[in-house]
Amino acid sequence: MKKLYVIGNPIEHSQSPKIHNYWLKKYNKSFRYEKLQLSLNDKIFAEQKLDLRKKMKEEEIKGINITVPFKTRFMDILDDIDESVHLAKAINIIYKKDEKIIGGNTDGIGFCKSLKDDFNFSVPGIIQILGAGGAAYGILSELIKYRPRVIYVCNRTITKAQELVNNFKKANVSPSTTWEIHDLSFSVPSPVELFINTSYLGMKADHKLDNYLNRMSAQGFVYDINYNEELTIFNKMADDRGVDFKRNVNGKYMLIRQAAEAFKKWFNISLIKNDIDEAVDLLKV
Ligand code: ATR
Repeated sequence: MKKLYVIGNPIEHSQSPKIHNYWLKKYNKSFRYEKLQLSLNDKIFAEQKLDLRKKMKEEEIKGINITVPFKTRFMDILDDIDESVHLAKAINIIYKKDEKIIGGNTDGIGFCKSLKDDFNFSVPGIIQILGAGGAAYGILSELIKYRPRVIYVCNRTITKAQELVNNFKKANVSPSTTWEIHDLSFSVPSPVELFINTSYLGMKADHKLDNYLNRMSAQGFVYDINYNEELTIFNKMADDRGVDFKRNVNGKYMLIRQAAEAFKKWFNISLIKNDIDEAVDLLKV
């Protein structure tokens, strides 16, 4: 049977096969989606990449998802990248179009679609984002198109936050957006309308988090992209501060929405809300 893969190292934790194999069966596609751990040794990794490219050319592999730590390490085997990668600087999907092997990024669109279609929330004017890694790049590459008024970027390593902001300023997608760069001790002065955690902050009990969510707008949205728990520490804090549970979510819907966008690239099928909700239920088991 022809294959699709999710590639990472480690990869055992990945939930993507569960989601994709469910949709593949539902839509009668005779493909199998599997996990594949690639080597961290540069030489072996280079050979593995070439082998994957060959198998995609020969149609043995239909498509690939890429996760940590390889999202920026596939450029050299691609024929082209799509528009989403220019801003996001990372690839989470490989697909074939007109015989060409293309790299794309569906994280940002997955995030924005989940906000709009799953939670009926429009991108607001005042956004705070924690973290400046690959996930932050992916999400902001799409959010910025809605031209928010201000984005507070808070990160442990200030230079990485600066790099991220420079990337988006240079692209000039939203010249009217004000960017602020801060470390993790910063408390936002104005009511935050969308709070996004892309960092590992909150994963350990010893992280100090008292300065967050104090200025959340009552109508604001808290999105923690981690999904190791039904309610993350930030979700629990938001709950304590009175944020409505419908606007206080973990990363499950983003995961499923980015998967749905990948499915569309591979099979040209636009999944419907029911497919999304069924996948969410699968992850509860
Ligand atoms: P991803 O590519 O998935 O976004 P990442 O870049 O490895 O993941 O990490 C995401 C963010 O978590 C980074 O911004 C990182 O901060 P640094 O830029 O300072 O490395 C942040 N992070 C990781 N561990 C952290 C910790 N213990 N405390 C605070 N932030 C942390």
